[in-house]
Amino acid sequence: MDLFPIIEGIAKRGLENQVIKECDYYGEDGLLVCGVCHEPRQEIAPWKVGDKTVDLKRARSCKCDRDIAEQKKREEQMKEDMEYIARLRELSLMDTKFKNAVFDSFKTNKENERNLKLCKRYATAFDKMMEKAQGLLMWGDVGTGKSFAAACIANYLLDHKTSVIMTSFVKILEIIDKDRDEESAIIARLGRAKLVIFDDLGAERSTDYAIEKVYNIIDSRYRSGLPMILTTNLTLDAMQNETDIRYKRIFDRIFETCYPMQFTGVSWRMRSAYQRFSEMESLLTDNE
Ligand SMILES: Nc1ncnc2c1ncn2[C@@H]1O[C@H](COP(=O)(O)OP(=O)(O)OP(=O)(O)O)[C@@H](O)[C@H]1O
Ligand SMILES: [Mg+2]
Ligand SMILES: [Zn+2]
Repeated sequence: MDLFPIIEGIAKRGLENQVIKECDYYGEDGLLVCGVCHEPRQEIAPWKVGDKTVDLKRARSCKCDRDIAEQKKREEQMKEDMEYIARLRELSLMDTKFKNAVFDSFKTNKENERNLKLCKRYATAFDKMMEKAQGLLMWGDVGTGKSFAAACIANYLLDHKTSVIMTSFVKILEIIDKDRDEESAIIARLGRAKLVIFDDLGAERSTDYAIEKVYNIIDSRYRSGLPMILTTNLTLDAMQNETDIRYKRIFDRIFETCYPMQFTGVSWRMRSAYQRFSEMESLLTDNE
């Protein structure tokens, strides 16, 4: 089949569609040159037709054309990325109060400096963590910033197009209680996320039923070979010395894969309550 008429048609259309800038000019060879970068915008391509060679004039892109195309591609990619990240965020199940928890807003003090460093390392080296199914166990008193720190990792990863689910056993049990059929769907969904954060382990009911569900969920995550982060008010000591076999089975799987990270210090909630109290006090006593 003779392709030449098709190729010629394409070249002709390319020339017709070429937008000529006011500053563009023609060179001595009669071909269009860009008035900005001075690269040719047209060229002659020899084309073999039978045993003859025909000179085919066609449009080519100059540096400016290539820059514009590149920029457009970047913008499209960015839009695509942003849409993808927004969708990941939607699927992350994260509480709205933690949506703004980011490393840049992480306030440090003596007690949590090391934890910030560890969390940042964990987030930036997540590929390696995932390879090793390495998780974290954030334990410590009420209000010491465990959930906040976990959310900082989650938001960092979401911004880097990594799927994260941040949920709690309390929430999962609530869903399963309403509809038993949801259990396998939830487990499947947790198995698809690269990182799962289980917030507040130990806050769920301690019925046989609830403990069995928690075990199933942790065990399936453990077997998926993907990492998890847990936050808890339970002490490391209490978890390590647990004698109740129902819990021991759960904690054993956690210890095997999660690096323990202690959170200490004054509760951030107390801190902010104290600050509000002092602000109010000075407001009320200002004019004395
Ligand atoms: N490093 C931090 N920088 C700024 N704000 C913080 C920091 N850590 C915690 N907070 C704030 O303090 C509040 C309590 O922290 P968080 O909920 O993380 O505590 P927690 O250890 O998970 O408590 P609990 O054991 O009750 O679940 C949060 O609302 C959070 O915004
Ligand atoms: Mg918490
Ligand atoms: Zn140009």
